This record gives sequence, structure tokens and C-alpha cells, in this order.
Amino acid sequence: MINLFDYEAAAQGNLSEMLWNFYAGGAWDEMTVRENHTAFSQVWLRPRVLNNVSQRDLQVSVLARKLRFPIAISPSAFHRLAHPDGELATVRAAASLGTLMAVSTFSNNSLEEIAIARDRVNKLAPLWFQLYPLRDRGLLRSLVQRAQTAGYTAICVTVDTAVSGRRERDLRTPLIPPADMVLGNFAAYPLQMDARSLIQYVTNQIDPSFNWEDLRWLRSITSLPIVLKGILRGDDAAKAVDYGVAGVFVSNHGGRQLDGTIPTIRALPEVVDAVKGYAEVYLDSGIRRGTDVLKALALGARCVFIGRPIVWGLSVNGEDGVRDVLEMLGHELSLAMALSGCASIANIDRTLVVTK
Ligand code: FNR
Repeated sequence: MINLFDYEAAAQGNLSEMLWNFYAGGAWDEMTVRENHTAFSQVWLRPRVLNNVSQRDLQVSVLARKLRFPIAISPSAFHRLAHPDGELATVRAAASLGTLMAVSTFSNNSLEEIAIARDRVNKLAPLWFQLYPLRDRGLLRSLVQRAQTAGYTAICVTVDTAVSGRRERDLRTPLIPPADMVLGNFAAYPLQMDARSLIQYVTNQIDPSFNWEDLRWLRSITSLPIVLKGILRGDDAAKAVDYGVAGVFVSNHGGRQLDGTIPTIRALPEVVDAVKGYAEVYLDSGIRRGTDVLKALALGARCVFIGRPIVWGLSVNGEDGVRDVLEMLGHELSLAMALSGCASIANIDRTLVVTK
């Protein structure tokens, strides 16, 4: 395995057609899935020379927590479909590297089990809880409180999923989870259903009426910082700051929601300008190379996240696979920094890139 694309190929070889389609798929014609990565090729680097780059420091702070490098794990559902150790494998890999994992509402292991696994490896590794805005506000409140009690460090509200995007691969090869698969966060939910119906039910629980005022309510029920995931416009980013969010997460859900959505690397500068430093800005969707990370940081992201590559690593080699994927990207970033004259993250600025 030399790069993330090797993991992609190996994962495709490993997985059933159904699972591969579930992971790889995007909405409608998958234009955004394709463009997310290729859009990075329209951003060119302008390296500096003759800086001492013999030692590189990749550390960043995200919401006041130190990460070893600015590469973190996007929330994705059902890690047990990729590997029997599920989210426990993923969190152990993240914690052992001192980076951040965002845990999906739809994790197989419960948010508490995941936090305990993190604590055993590295208590200081931050964990975010990703929240889909569900109709049942009592349930929402209890999830937020559970996350806070379990030691999560932020609530990451996904705002690009008012309804589910139409992924045609999922219509052709519907995802049929094993009947005994659990959704750890809903284990105590008084529902007697098999896994497939439960997933359907909970997905239908996502509330399309959720709006900025509901966000105000959400802020009022927790002291944890709130991050909005799925922002692609400067005006929404500025509004998010007005509503007191700590982080704006530029994402198009890896092209799984609205096809034709702008690639995130193109949306990033507008969002960064609108936020004016009042919140941190993150990015995911299409990051596959260290140079992609460098370009995103140059355009103002504090940290990037990866979604599918984590699942590829998990399916190929569990915890070690996830660690390898993260380390590969970290090494590529370190190399790209050296070759562009940056000894630390603070040296990376907008003058490092030019956009076609
Ligand atoms: C996701 N994503 C996602 N996002 C979220 O907020 N909650 C979730 O439960 C999920 N689940 C999920 C499952 C799978 C299989 C994928 C591929 C993605 C979206 C995810 O957080 C992220 O935005 C994208 O995956 C980023 O794009 P890349 O890195 O996959 O190109």
C-alpha cells in the first residue's frame, strides 16, 4: 500500500458489491463525487525555497485541543459493516495518533463505548459527536447530554441532510445490514425492529423543518461548542457565527446529498472570508493526498477530515488500516510542506497557492 488509492482498490476487492456501492456512492450522476477530488487540481502551489525545513511540526489546535496533525476522521455510519471491531477500531487508531474522530449518530458501537475505548488509548484525543437533527427533541436532548457526560468535546450538527440525497446505487443494490446489527446510540430506544427497518426509521426521523431557531435551542441545552457540518456559502457561514457556532465545517457530504454541489475546495475561500476569524473552519470531501490537505490549509481551513478513506482502511485491515491511512496522509503532508518551504502549519498561508 503506497497511497490512499491503493486502499480504495483493496477495499473494492474485499467488499461485496452492495457494501462497495454503499460506501462509494453519491447522489444522482455523482458529478460532485468526481469533482470533489479533481477540483484540487485547479489549485496550484507556489513553493518557497531556502527555508530550513529539516524539522517539520504538523501540530494544530482544534477547538483548543492539540492534534498531532491537521487530519481528522469525518463521521460515517455503521463501521461494523466494514470491520467487526466497528467504531472501536477507528477510535483506537485516531487516539493512538493523537487525532480527532467525529462519531456518527448512526454508529454501531454506542457513543459511550467509543469514549471508553478512546480513554484507554489516549484520554487527550478529542471526540466530536455528530448529530443529525431528529424530530424527537427529547431524543436529541438525551443524545447531546449523553455525549457531554461521556466526555465528547463538541457537537457537530450535520446541516446538509434536511432529507436524504437520492443515491441510485443504493436503489440498485439496497443496503441489507445483518439482522442483528445494532445502532448503539439507540439501543435503549423502545423499538422492536430489525436493523434495516430501524435504519429506515431513524433516517426518517431527520427533521426537514430544523432551522436557525432550533439551532439556538440546541445551543441552549449544552455547554459544548457547536460545529455546523455542510456549510458551502459565505452568507450561511456568517449567519452561523452570529448564532454562536465555534466551527464551520465546509462539506458536501462527499457528494452524497445534492449532486452538482460546488466542490468544497472551491467553496472554502468564500466561507473563510465570511467567518473573519470568529470561528474555526474545517473541510472534507475529496481529500486524498497530502497536497490536498496543504491546499485546504493554505486557503484557510484549520483542519481537514476524511470519510471514505477511513472506511477503506477499516475494511482492509481494521484499526491498523485506519492508522495506516491517516499516517500515509500525514507523511504526504509533511513532505509537501518540506517541498514548499513550510516548517510548521503557521507557515502555510494563502500566498502558497494560486487558483486557476
Ligand atoms: C458519510 N457521511 C456522513 N456524514 C454525517 O454527518 N453523518 C453520517 O452518519 C455520515 N455517514 C456516512 C457514511 C458513508 C458510507 C460515507 C461515505 C459518508 C459523510 C462524511 O462525513 C463526509 O462528509 C464525506 O465522506 C467526506 O467525503 P470523502 O472524504 O468521503 O470524499
